[in-house]
This record gives sequence, C-alpha cells and structure tokens, in this order.
Amino acid sequence: MSKVTVVGAGAVGATCANVMACREVASEVVLIDIKEGLSEGKMLDMYQCSTLMDFDTKLVGVTNDYKQTANSDVVVITSGIPRKPGMTREELIGTNANIMKGVIENVVKYSPRAIIIVVANPMDTLTYLALKASGLPKNRIIGMGGARDESSATWPRLRAPTSTTSTAWSSAATATRR
Ligand SMILES: NC(=O)c1ccc[n+]([C@@H]2O[C@H](COP(=O)([O-])OP(=O)(O)OC[C@H]3O[C@@H](n4cnc5c(N)ncnc54)[C@H](O)[C@@H]3O)[C@@H](O)[C@H]2O)c1
Repeated sequence: MSKVTVVGAGAVGATCANVMACREVASEVVLIDIKEGLSEGKMLDMYQCSTLMDFDTKLVGVTNDYKQTANSDVVVITSGIPRKPGMTREELIGTNANIMKGVIENVVKYSPRAIIIVVANPMDTLTYLALKASGLPKNRIIGMGGARDESSATWPRLRAPTSTTSTAWSSAATATRR
C-alpha cells in the first residue's frame, strides 16, 4: 500500500499522475492544484478510463486541500510556471521559489515522512530550497531532471534508422527540451 501526491495538475503533473495510475505504482494517487476544479476534473477523466486501461489505483483530485494528501509516502512537486520561448530555467526562480516555499510547508505538515521529488524549474535550485525549507534529511529530497534529459538525449539514437534522421531528431529533441 502506498500513497503518492502530485502537486500541480498542469501538463507535467497530470501526465505524471496518469502514468502512475496506469502502471499502478501506488495504491492511491492524489493530484492537487490551486486552480479550482482542475485536479478534480483531470482525476475524473483518468478514473473514467480505468476500465479501458485496466487499473484500479484510487484517484483523488483536490483544490488546495492538503488534508487529503496526508501521510503520502512520496510527494512529486510540479507546481510552478513553465518557461516561455526564449526564457532560461533560472528566470523562473522568483515565481517558482515562492510557490515552492508554500507547497513545502504544507507537504511537511501533512506528510512528514514523505520522500519529496522536485520537478519544477529551475529544478536544481528549487531542490536545494526544498531541502532548506523542509528541514528534512537530504536523502529524502530528490530533484528530477537528469533522467528526463538523458531520455531526450538517447531516444533518437535508439529509434532513428539513419545518421541524417538521427541528427534531425537530435536537433528537434534539443529544441523542445525544457
Ligand atoms: N525537471 C524536468 O525535467 C521538467 C520537465 C518539464 C517541465 N518542468 C517544470 O515543471 C513545472 C511545471 O510545468 P508544466 O508544463 O506542468 O506547467 P503548467 O503551467 O502546465 O502547470 C503548472 C501547474 O502548477 C499549478 N500551481 C501553481 N501554483 C501552485 C501552488 N501553489 N500549488 C499547487 N499548484 C500550483 C498551476 O495552477 C498549474 O496547473 C515548470 O516549472 C516546468 O519548467 C520540469
């Protein structure tokens, strides 16, 4: 039995929740966002696909109610603004650091034993902020970026049949990497 909370029900958070639900990596997945009804709607959509996709993970969508996230084993933090064209990850720090501080306070309050995985950018800086703001030991705070970048860097080589195509795919992957 395990419970995972995903904070932020945007592109990354909803995809993360959906993959975990379909793969049944946890018995319960909670999706939480500040936008009224967003998480509830996304979890309802996923739940209505559960017969088709053959999973029975318990799915809970909530708006800013951290009581529902209580005693999570793992909390994945995706809340924050993404980059716009031309922006660096570091330019997100002002907005996303404030979001992170508020989120961490609630996560630690309701799930003091959780492992925290930081996805929001700038990921390295926000992981360090999460470590400092939470007061948790460093082996409980993990930044997720390298694994995803490694996947972006390797998939064209694995799938593209020719070097020309491979180069084109590599350029496309680099251009779209966040
Ligand atoms: N580490 C990586 O490999 C990686 C990959 C892609 C994106 N990202 C980062 O992940 C973050 C999310 O990207 P996205 O595309 O899902 O963005 P998005 O805009 O689609 O979703 C972000 C969500 O966070 C929510 N949010 C904002 N403040 C919140 C709060 N205080 N509490 C709860 N939810 C809150 C928003 O309402 C929104 O639904 C960005 O910072 C992006 O740069 C990281």
